Amino acid sequence: MSNQNDQTDRENGGLNGVHAEGERSHNGHAPANGVYENGKGSTPDSQPRAEATFTPAQARYAQIVGWGYHVPSKVITNADLEQIVDTQDEWIRSRTGIEERHVAASPAETSASLGVLAGRKALDMADIHPNKIDLIICATSSPEHIFPSTASIIQDGLGASNAGAFDLSAACSGFVYALSMARGHILAGDAEYVLVIGAETLSRIVDWTDRTTCVLFGDGAGAVLVAASDVPGGIMASVLGSDGSGADLLTVPAGGSAIPASLESVNTGGHFIKMDGRAVFRFATRVMAEATTQVLAKAGLTVQDVDLVIPHQANERIIQNSVLKQLQIPAEKVFINLQKYGNTSTASIPIALCEAIEAGRVKPGDKLVFVGFGAGLTWAACAVEWRTPVEKPEANWWRNTQRQATYQAAAARSMWKRAIRRVYSQVLPTREERWDKNEE
Ligand code: ACO
Repeated sequence: MSNQNDQTDRENGGLNGVHAEGERSHNGHAPANGVYENGKGSTPDSQPRAEATFTPAQARYAQIVGWGYHVPSKVITNADLEQIVDTQDEWIRSRTGIEERHVAASPAETSASLGVLAGRKALDMADIHPNKIDLIICATSSPEHIFPSTASIIQDGLGASNAGAFDLSAACSGFVYALSMARGHILAGDAEYVLVIGAETLSRIVDWTDRTTCVLFGDGAGAVLVAASDVPGGIMASVLGSDGSGADLLTVPAGGSAIPASLESVNTGGHFIKMDGRAVFRFATRVMAEATTQVLAKAGLTVQDVDLVIPHQANERIIQNSVLKQLQIPAEKVFINLQKYGNTSTASIPIALCEAIEAGRVKPGDKLVFVGFGAGLTWAACAVEWRTPVEKPEANWWRNTQRQATYQAAAARSMWKRAIRRVYSQVLPTREERWDKNEE
């Protein structure tokens, strides 16, 4: 341990074995297949020296150690929607289970700003400073731009100065895909801390005159911090799937390179979500059950071992027809909160996870399944053995102050860097210009 301040409650307490800073060089961590101590550089194939001894690899696990979510304050109820489109509260409730959704009403509320607020809560929960994050993966279906990535904007907003960042596009399956990526980076020894965020402002790409889609979606962001750990458990297995033959069933057709933005693409509503609801419904009920079964088999678990399923919150009937009926998982083992948020795409599972924890439905030792589906078509499931204490650790005043100062400084630092870049580009001559002058 290089710095006492870096030893968090979680590192020292409930979840012993989460790697602290100072171990980021992976000292003491042999490759997954172990090393020949006296035969450095040798492999089993290249015949190590006779005296070499084999040290079994130290096990490495990917644990969720922090979590948080943020939703915009503006709520639109089904009754509100009755004023906008030809729909009825009864229809929406009975066909989807949705009662209301949160919508980003202020222009300042963007996928990145919601993601930053969710990310901060996850870091606060884990009591980890943003400069410890190695990688930020933002799964989103409503990125701020085609590029730069929303993850990079979040990285800047968090002041996570040591983190790489990228967006992951797998529609509503994106958060579970991203968890799987985080696990892979950690198990490979490439990262100690990965911040996984699902962040959406779908209200900006929904056609508010189309009753078949606008009643379904909502805005919000959820985040989890995944950490390297010696404690067995954590994200145990994942299943990822795709069937691109169904790409046209759920799509935002225009705005990419296939149909670039034009007057026509705007006039024909090409930048809004288009969906064949019935086809997506059939696909979803099939893959949610299949992916859950597959991931449990991969993790060496049975349906009876599962303590809680947290499914993508798109439609209560999809959850009923797949996880509950096909897999015979009882309702008390399935978490549903879509009545309050609608379908928040990549944010739905992390928001549901946070609420399940708040409701006392998750405790250390529990076996969880996250399972989702979405455009692509895609589907994904993760099996998790939960090991982290769910109570918020007592805030360490000094570490909390350091974090809050970093968040405050992040915006100022970003503005300063922009200003410096402007000065360089406008005032100072470029190297080429200096060369040209010298030649004259
Ligand atoms: N209010 C009132 N009536 C409506 C509404 C509405 N909001 N929307 C559709 N209807 C009407 C239809 O026009 C249709 O009328 P008709 O029979 O006169 O033609 C009738 O209701 C039935 O329509 P269906 O589409 O058959 O209704 P269904 O029971 O399939 O429910 C729904 C529609 C809710 C969209 C359902 O198909 C569904 O949830 N599908 C999955 C969608 C989904 O989860 N998408 C997200 C994927 S995740 C991602 O990647 C973003």
